[in-house]
Amino acid sequence: MTSTASRLRGFTSISDLRTALAAARSKRKSVALVPTMGALHEGHLRLIDRAREAADIVVMSIFVNPLQFGAGEDFSKYPRDLAADTQLAADRGVDILFAPDRKEMYPEEPLITVHSGHIGEVWEGESRPGHFEGVLTVVAKLFNIVEPDTAVFGQKDLQQLAVVRAMVRDLAFPIEIIAEPTVRDEDGLALSSRNRYLSPEDRAAARTLPRALSTMLERFNTGTPAAAAIESAGRDVLDTAKNLTCDYLAVIDPVNFQSVETAVAGCAAIGAVRVGKTRLIDNIIFT
Ligand code: PAF
Repeated sequence: MTSTASRLRGFTSISDLRTALAAARSKRKSVALVPTMGALHEGHLRLIDRAREAADIVVMSIFVNPLQFGAGEDFSKYPRDLAADTQLAADRGVDILFAPDRKEMYPEEPLITVHSGHIGEVWEGESRPGHFEGVLTVVAKLFNIVEPDTAVFGQKDLQQLAVVRAMVRDLAFPIEIIAEPTVRDEDGLALSSRNRYLSPEDRAAARTLPRALSTMLERFNTGTPAAAAIESAGRDVLDTAKNLTCDYLAVIDPVNFQSVETAVAGCAAIGAVRVGKTRLIDNIIFT
């Protein structure tokens, strides 16, 4: 791995990383972790900025975690460009980049994994069985390797944020979880590493997801608390798109991810759609 800015140090080995972090900790430096799968975009870079505010040392991990991809999902196709990611991380002020290979993270198929419970079995969990177990297992392992004081996650993956928070609470990880708001392109589409799969026609269709969510927020703000009516308004917007299939669109409580019948401030509208071969998720919090 190249180290292009003076500050960035790259590690691929768990033990080398631990040695470097032990030295930093002995100087009473606080550590923030930004876990990623690479293919960095502005959304990830904002997580770095937030981590920078929270701690003395910013560690970013890049690891495309095979455990969180199901059979037939895009694990082998998932965009990987470590050289470009290293440059972006260095330019944005990451101190330590941890980019292990699969053998380093999983020398053997793990016997012990972290079960996500009910909260990880609905919505994304139902569409992608085992996904959150894979996410929690790698996040728990990264937490144990890095031992950060803080970890920063994007709000775009709202259910991931909820399962990680639940794990931290239930397994007593001494780590503060910070959520960073979703970053959007000018056309409203939430930034995602998977957006690069979209053709111009796909992208036009994909834009109806944030429009549907905004319509749902609008309905709530103009005095419709019934979740069914809010959801139906969102579906009408999605129905205008060609080449788009709705996986789910719902109003939920963002702590336990249960659907609600009556929306209140703090609830979230969540949605997942397939456009061509690409699956996209997004959400909006009701304020
Ligand atoms: O959000 C992601 O990029 C991944 O799910 C994470 C948290 C890095 C775990 O692999």
